[in-house]
Amino acid sequence: MALADCRLLGLPKIADHRGNLTFIEGGRHVPFQIERVYYLYDVPGGAERGGHAHKQLHQFIIAMSGSFDVVIDDGLERKRVHLNRSYNGLYLCPMTWRELDNFSSGSVCMVLASRHYDESDYIRDYGEFTATVNRA
Ligand code: TYD
Repeated sequence: MALADCRLLGLPKIADHRGNLTFIEGGRHVPFQIERVYYLYDVPGGAERGGHAHKQLHQFIIAMSGSFDVVIDDGLERKRVHLNRSYNGLYLCPMTWRELDNFSSGSVCMVLASRHYDESDYIRDYGEFTATVNRA
């Protein structure tokens, strides 16, 4: 999978003077069925999350509040994406190395995932990741 397969996707936004509403339907607004949702919050200033790839997992990352950066890497190139709107999200296909940093104070990062948590789906060593993608 190339970095170009990871893309920023816009979500529906129902603008209303009472407050805006955004919704996400699995297989429709994100290119997979959603089996798990998790979120990062109370992230201390300067902290970094991620630092791994997934073998099979598809994910979609949204800045529900505040902002942060996602550095994505397919073993050939590396790109930094700034997320700061709750009606946009970043789709990450399997075998994408990611690092999250630059969290603003009070930010919340929500992640939609295509599978339940499975530690055996992780590649946590960058050397192992590049060796695996370059063999493929
Ligand atoms: P990890 O995915 O490494 O966090 P991040 O990439 O956001 O920095 O997960 C951190 C810990 O939380 C790890 O021990 C596994 C556990 N965890 C679960 O038990 N279930 C989950 O759905 C997730 C995402 C993590």
